[in-house]
Amino acid sequence: MNILILGSGGREHALAWAVMQNPKCDRLVVAPGNAGIAAIADCADLDILNGIAVVNFCEERSIDFVIIGPEAPLAAGVADDLRGAGFKVFGPSAAAAQLEASKAFTKEICDAAGAPTAAYGHFTDAAAARAHVEAHGAPIVIKADGLAAGKGVIIAMTQAEALAAVDTMFDGAFGDAGAEVVIEEFMEGEEASFFVLCDGEDVLPIGTAQDHKRVGDGDTGPNTGGMGAYSPAPVLSDAVAARALDEIVRPTMAEMAKRGTPYQGVLYVGLMIKDGAPRLVEYNVRFGDPECQVLMMRLGAQAFDLIQACAEGRLAEARVNWAEDHALCVVMAANGYPGSYEKGSVIGGLDALPEDSANMVFHAGTGQSGGDIIATGGRVLNVTARGVSLAEAQARAYDTVDRVDWPEGFCRRDIGWRAL
Ligand code: AMP
Ligand code: GLY
Repeated sequence: MNILILGSGGREHALAWAVMQNPKCDRLVVAPGNAGIAAIADCADLDILNGIAVVNFCEERSIDFVIIGPEAPLAAGVADDLRGAGFKVFGPSAAAAQLEASKAFTKEICDAAGAPTAAYGHFTDAAAARAHVEAHGAPIVIKADGLAAGKGVIIAMTQAEALAAVDTMFDGAFGDAGAEVVIEEFMEGEEASFFVLCDGEDVLPIGTAQDHKRVGDGDTGPNTGGMGAYSPAPVLSDAVAARALDEIVRPTMAEMAKRGTPYQGVLYVGLMIKDGAPRLVEYNVRFGDPECQVLMMRLGAQAFDLIQACAEGRLAEARVNWAEDHALCVVMAANGYPGSYEKGSVIGGLDALPEDSANMVFHAGTGQSGGDIIATGGRVLNVTARGVSLAEAQARAYDTVDRVDWPEGFCRRDIGWRAL
């Protein structure tokens, strides 16, 4: 098969790495890709938010199957355009992608499905939102309704902070994403992510993970897109996963199907777990980044068989071949991230690193300049390792990190601490 992956991050490099190992893959193209992806697949310059351009590209290149990595093309309806043109696609329709693109939509679906989640209010004007905050007090969570690149959530520990957050959102700090605001009860517990494939009817769990959102060791400092991740997540035991499927995922999927907008693709289920009871924090309609890197490391070549079964509506007959293993990913970022940082520094030492089924360096923000690999983004490399224990995976990942020659970059030294 000729396979196209849309996206350019570490998530897409990990997907490309897994797909390339599957014998069904004759040719792999990634658009737009990055320097690491270019070493294992063809990269193509393509506007991945333009459905017509993507369809034309697939026709020109005889593509048989498309995997959509990030949320933006999904929310823009690129999966709909491709399906309309007869292509096989992994990823939800724009209507189903509302599960990530609108927090108010998701809360309303949870109500209809009876899925446990934080109590909430939905507001389109500042006065009503402020009154809600005054009535409920702090801690309380203020969220921009739309896509805000992971930055539209403010956990307010005091009422004054909450009122300021409401004003900031209605003043347009998040553009259109903040024109509507959801205010939620603050949930206590331990957070973990549950990844489930859904084909519109059946669901298949494909792994659990925890990520580290804060930039600094000990989970301190500002939030980021994710500084590391590991899988499995011990807090998401089989019993908690079974409850999450029965109480949250299956009722949501049934509600989506009932509304005529069945969900097809990977569903990233963000959970808050307290005393063995899961509640929904959020859905994302794509793999997490860097959670995808640890999942792909554990699934390997079978990932594409599962993705294909999902896209073809055959999940009822699909099975995951689990190994008793653990994977861990350390994100190396440019000094200054998530604030301002320099681009263009040269990364050395990459050629001498091990690349096998237990050790991979997935690229996120990298490019090529002359013969050098250079940093082109905030999150730059995703050093990922697998082991029989989490401690072994962690030791392997940091051993590789220490061999990367990049003075302009940094990483957290404690990825996995909660589980170790
Ligand atoms: P979201 O974009 O909705 O996932 O929110 C980003 C992060 O904010 C989550 O991963 C949680 O760590 C935190 N968060 C969101 N909603 C809540 C809530 N209701 N209670 C506690 N923490 C939350
Ligand atoms: N690592 C969090 C996310 O991908 O949303």
